[in-house]
Amino acid sequence: MSQRFEIANWNQYVMRWHEPHRQLEPLEVEIEAVDQALQALSDARILPHIRYDQEKFQAHRLAVRQCFDIPWTAITPRMQRLLYAINAITQPATMVAVGIFCGNTFISNAGAAIGPGACYPADLLVGLEIRSAEATRARRNITTLSHHGVTVRILAEDAKPWLERLERTIDLLYLDPDGPPGTGKSIYLEMLDAAQHALRPGSLVLAHNSVNAARQLADYLAYVRDPANFSESVNLVIDDQGLEVSLV
Ligand SMILES: C[S@@+](CC[C@H](N)C(=O)[O-])C[C@H]1O[C@@H](n2cnc3c(N)ncnc32)[C@H](O)[C@@H]1O
Repeated sequence: MSQRFEIANWNQYVMRWHEPHRQLEPLEVEIEAVDQALQALSDARILPHIRYDQEKFQAHRLAVRQCFDIPWTAITPRMQRLLYAINAITQPATMVAVGIFCGNTFISNAGAAIGPGACYPADLLVGLEIRSAEATRARRNITTLSHHGVTVRILAEDAKPWLERLERTIDLLYLDPDGPPGTGKSIYLEMLDAAQHALRPGSLVLAHNSVNAARQLADYLAYVRDPANFSESVNLVIDDQGLEVSLV
């Protein structure tokens, strides 16, 4: 089944890309918006519940604000909270994030397992970034946080062959790469194909830009919304970027 969940006035909630930590609305409004999105995932039986530790999330947000070098980001405060909450609730042993740029998207997912927002013991967290300078920046950023014994790998690699070679299960796959000029976000389906053998029933696949890049992602979105391929898929329209959450 595929579904769409929309927050009222989502298109007026727009990120200021060069002000990564700016609060865009009162905190209680942000919390309520994300709770509604989590409830939509729970109603679709993608999440078992919608509870996550608010204080740990705030500690995570503060650490990223204080320690990370983020030149720009399209991750809104709502999206940062949503990604953290999905990871905190589902507790993936192995999380793989593709196209992590400076590491902000990686830590939005991984912050549920490392740093001051950690709330469960993960096994392996991997961030893949094809541009070596950005992978270096991401590694530098992530090194500022305690890893609590979790294995963390930030790799300066093309994610596609890396995924094809992978010999373990991925519990949560986060997709955010953009390909060479002209292809843009249309490479998500290639990445999903490369990772398919590592997914198992219960694995989650999160795809950023399900709203603003919907046209480039048409083949990907059609694939994950086909019940022959994924048991559930929900398009969370909480900001002008969007997140498609798909359950194998
Ligand atoms: C536009 S950024 C994502 C930014 C993110 N949405 C944010 O707001 O922080 C996408 C990243 O994917 C990376 N990328 C593109 N193709 C890739 C590939 N094949 N493997 C790994 N990373 C890739 C790019 O170098 C780029 O840094």
